[in-house]
Amino acid sequence: MKKKILVTGGLGFIGSHTVVCLHEAGFEPIIIDNLSNSQMSAMDGIKSLIGFEPTFVNANVNDKEVLAQLIIDHKPEAIIHFAAFKAVGESVEKPLMYYENNVVGLISVLEVMKEQVISNLVFSSSCTVYGEPDQVPVLETTPTKPAQSPYGATKQMGEIILKDNAAWCKTQCLRYFNPIGAHPTAALGELPLGIPNNLIPFLTQTVAGLRNELTVFGNDYDTPDGTCIRDYIHVMDLAEAHVKAVERLVHNKQEENFEVFNIGTGNGFSVLEVIQSFEKENNINVPHKIGPRRAGDVVKVWADTTKVNEVLGWTAKRGLDEMMRDSWNWQLKLQNN
Ligand code: UD1
Repeated sequence: MKKKILVTGGLGFIGSHTVVCLHEAGFEPIIIDNLSNSQMSAMDGIKSLIGFEPTFVNANVNDKEVLAQLIIDHKPEAIIHFAAFKAVGESVEKPLMYYENNVVGLISVLEVMKEQVISNLVFSSSCTVYGEPDQVPVLETTPTKPAQSPYGATKQMGEIILKDNAAWCKTQCLRYFNPIGAHPTAALGELPLGIPNNLIPFLTQTVAGLRNELTVFGNDYDTPDGTCIRDYIHVMDLAEAHVKAVERLVHNKQEENFEVFNIGTGNGFSVLEVIQSFEKENNINVPHKIGPRRAGDVVKVWADTTKVNEVLGWTAKRGLDEMMRDSWNWQLKLQNN
């Protein structure tokens, strides 16, 4: 019988790709998602890729009764907890909403796990916990910096809570760098609500004619071309990292109950390099201008991936060109629907 994995936020951007990869790796994903930042169309994409609709419950993870019943009914081996808000700017405007969803939500999940005696968890953390690092690339041991936003604070608090519960809950804490791209078939991708804040959805919407122009936020940073540097990672690589983390948990291979991994490629690219790569790969012009810096932006951050390569046995396989191609194909698919 297939091992079941409960995926909270399984219809979101990273969650939906992970559901597909879990199925391909021989697991049975069970989804709980309240559609607060996702859409049922993601289920159509999942269905088209795996051939059937996985079990899905439309509920908030804070609803402990529903979560407990789902666990009683399906007895999952592990939980991947994606369900959380992720917009930095919005978190500054609505901090309580972020603490409620991201921190109280995690506590609810843990309480139900403890009650139902489930002790395997994969947690979505973020490179945002490093803040503006003193040195790049960052290692998992690089000291974290005070959070720049309530969103960042919720990720740091999540890590602390999980570390404090490591006596009974085995956790794989994955620090994502900048997830972009889409499924290579364009069956799944990111569905940003409203005007996107993040670079790639804004860029693809601009090229598609939905926005006038992309603004590059500052070109006077201390980097080779003056624009900020990030470690962009293909969402399929990221999804595959979750499968590795789940396998490590269910096969009891953890060396410590609380383990942290950087999930990046190990390569940093500037905003202008991303634009150039998009233009070259898709043979299309990206209308853009240089604007002022965006408040709160880190200048440069990319991952040291030695630990995740060696210990988790995972390496990112897809390059920036592939990320650009798949992101654009996804935008084209959205346009044609
Ligand atoms: C932020 C968070 C990250 C979170 C991610 C997803 C930090 C340090 N990072 O990433 O943890 O997972 O959001 O919500 O808080 N840019 C432009 N023009 C645009 C948009 C972006 O030039 O219109 C630039 C930004 O200045 C930045 C880069 O593109 O240098 C990437 O920005 P973005 O996609 O928003 O992600 P981060 O801010 O790096």
